[in-house]
Amino acid sequence: MPSVSDRLELIRYSPIRQIAALLDRSRSKRSIISFGGGAPSLPPPKEILEEISRLLNDETVRAVGYCGTKGLPELRELISEDIERYFGTYYDPNSEIIITEGATEGILLALFSILNKNDEVILIDPTYVGFSEPIKLAGGRVKHIPALVKRGYQPRVEDLEASLTSRTKAFILLSPDNPTGRIISREFVKALVDLAVDRDFWIIYDATYKHIVYEGENVWVPGFPGAMERTIVVNTFSKEASIPGLRLGYTLAPKEIIEAMEKLKQYTSLAPNTLGQYALMKFYQDGVKDRYLKEVVLPTYKRRRDLMGELLRKYLPEAETVKPQGAFYYFVDIRPYLERMGRDDKEFANRLFYRKEVVVIPGAFFGEMGIGHVRMTFVSEPEERIKEGIERIGEFIFSYAI
Ligand SMILES: Cc1ncc(COP(=O)(O)O)c(C=O)c1O
Repeated sequence: MPSVSDRLELIRYSPIRQIAALLDRSRSKRSIISFGGGAPSLPPPKEILEEISRLLNDETVRAVGYCGTKGLPELRELISEDIERYFGTYYDPNSEIIITEGATEGILLALFSILNKNDEVILIDPTYVGFSEPIKLAGGRVKHIPALVKRGYQPRVEDLEASLTSRTKAFILLSPDNPTGRIISREFVKALVDLAVDRDFWIIYDATYKHIVYEGENVWVPGFPGAMERTIVVNTFSKEASIPGLRLGYTLAPKEIIEAMEKLKQYTSLAPNTLGQYALMKFYQDGVKDRYLKEVVLPTYKRRRDLMGELLRKYLPEAETVKPQGAFYYFVDIRPYLERMGRDDKEFANRLFYRKEVVVIPGAFFGEMGIGHVRMTFVSEPEERIKEGIERIGEFIFSYAI
């Protein structure tokens, strides 16, 4: 057989996707409790679902046809108004917004639009697993600055300054964060923007969880003076509208970047999902989005977050974590337990799954600083199963103590 491309050697399989595949295979097993992947378990707003049915019945050809590569102009207009209303920054729907297949395509196209060979991109460690591999595919190099539990997972400005070189092309900021739930401090963003202006690099701001904020206020990076012209904001509907399988998101950026992304997208996916886009217009009408977030998403996840926090304190009292202010993950430092068990975080997760049928994600997947931690999401299980799952983790740890 002829060989596959050498390019494949640059990247690893996504460990989170491997766990998702494992869970897909055991979907029928109710006994498995998943604190693993971050897919919302809530149904999307009924207005979106009803519109999908209506479109399929009444406007079939339009609903399943192609649209332009940047997506439907009507949806881009609604996004532009919505962003201005929520965050006070205006993006021209014709030239500064592109609809993508989730944030995943936004990240890939943004990186391919800006990187040349050996350009450096700085990430916070630990971070989302979906950044480093597309950087490498686009020819870039990954650098890291640390974020530790003892500093509330906030990165330090002095580490950022020390990581900059003449090859720095971009910094990727994620807030609220996956895997830590941290909201980045205003001081860090201010320093980051000032440095980006001074040293002329891009900020890629992954705003996947911009609306999933329980307390405090998230920082809207493009709102900082000087930021908008050097910030690429990657967004998704997967979390805020609970439609991860429809694969839709959008990117906000200066015109030159949107043009570059459009050019690339013509050869990656041609155009975004038309049916989903028409249906999503309902998300922006008659207060559906505000109501859904305020009355369904935030109260549900906040209750689950508070419960998981309480149970972690009760059943894993020696673990250290930071109560997430946003997103839907606890990133838990379990080193005291691992040391006693003589296991690392990957072995812990593996054995926990096979012995107790509870899924957690090893912290090492998110970077070197994540070693000895596990990520636990509270997005996919209801409260009674969160309780059951953490009790099982408690029993699992206790079984090693005797
Ligand atoms: C930080 C972050 N960015 C991007 C994504 C990708 O989401 P999607 O491609 O479904 O929009 C995720 C998914 O979990 C995420 O957590």
